[in-house]
Amino acid sequence: MDKLLLSREKINKIDEQMARLFAERMEAVREVAEYKAENHLPVFDASREAEIIEKNSALIENESIKAHYINFLKNNMQISRSYQAELYPELSSGVLYEKENVKKIRVNLEKDSYDIFLGCGLLSHAREYFRLDRKVLILTDSGVPCDYAKEIATKCKEAFVYTIKQGEASKNFDNFKAILEFMAQNRFTRTDCVVAVGGGVCGDLAGFVAASYMRGVDFYNVPTTLLSQVDSSIGGKVAIDLDGFKNTVGAFYQPKCVLIDPETLLTLDIRQVRSGFSEALKMATTSDAELFELFENGE
Ligand SMILES: NC(=O)c1ccc[n+]([C@@H]2O[C@H](COP(=O)([O-])OP(=O)(O)OC[C@H]3O[C@@H](n4cnc5c(N)ncnc54)[C@H](O)[C@@H]3O)[C@@H](O)[C@H]2O)c1
Repeated sequence: MDKLLLSREKINKIDEQMARLFAERMEAVREVAEYKAENHLPVFDASREAEIIEKNSALIENESIKAHYINFLKNNMQISRSYQAELYPELSSGVLYEKENVKKIRVNLEKDSYDIFLGCGLLSHAREYFRLDRKVLILTDSGVPCDYAKEIATKCKEAFVYTIKQGEASKNFDNFKAILEFMAQNRFTRTDCVVAVGGGVCGDLAGFVAASYMRGVDFYNVPTTLLSQVDSSIGGKVAIDLDGFKNTVGAFYQPKCVLIDPETLLTLDIRQVRSGFSEALKMATTSDAELFELFENGE
């Protein structure tokens, strides 16, 4: 009993210190919100949050508590974001839901033209951008948090979530065939559609399935890695690998619409964030001076 009381006493003391530190932290968060409001910056900053998780989790030596600490950090960041949004509602995701705060990029390709919509929280507004009042095959992979596909599924009249194993090896002919068979077994017709929820692997495979099923059904893309948001979801290249050779079999097939929700990047690991940034930096270096300047200024 004494032992329990002693441990609880220890926890109480730590909690007291943490309460003080929490108040100090929230004051710093308030200052950040003030700066963001003055400079019209969004609450959410994917690279900053990924950097915090990488740097701080390295301070925890005990591997068995590291994952819990990462959860603690993520909760902390969620609380900070809510607080900033509460202080400055114009910065909050809720405001971004409104049409004028969603960035729209029109890809002009005559009859194949489509729109890319970009905004925090857009995932839960998919119904406003995609036609989901039909059978919808949602293709995702085992590494993508399943809540993203579920979120889209709740908006569909009849959703079928199909989950492949994460990784490049899944972009193969066997999966391609299995998904087509799955659609046929579930009586998908020419007027139904396919939605990719994941990185480039899901996007490429789902796009090729959409291009092939009944000579083409509507395809929507919800890219959830930085690389797929800045690169692979744009341009209409869809493909699978053949005998280990990348993108050997494929097509040019434009999506009907692309929805980019930067909040999905919150769950992405730092390696994937870096991979996306490298691609964006490569593009900036070769063909976009304005973007390169943003990188140079650390924006
Ligand atoms: N079509 C094109 O124009 C084009 C261009 C460039 C690359 N590609 C293709 O894209 C593929 C690579 O794409 P990628 O880098 O996005 O890899 P990926 O699709 O394999 O995703 C990387 C990892 O991140 C996980 N993941 C995805 N979203 C996540 C999220 N929000 N949170 C946590 N984990 C998440 C995935 O499960 C996976 O393990 C390659 O197959 C490449 O050939 C296509």
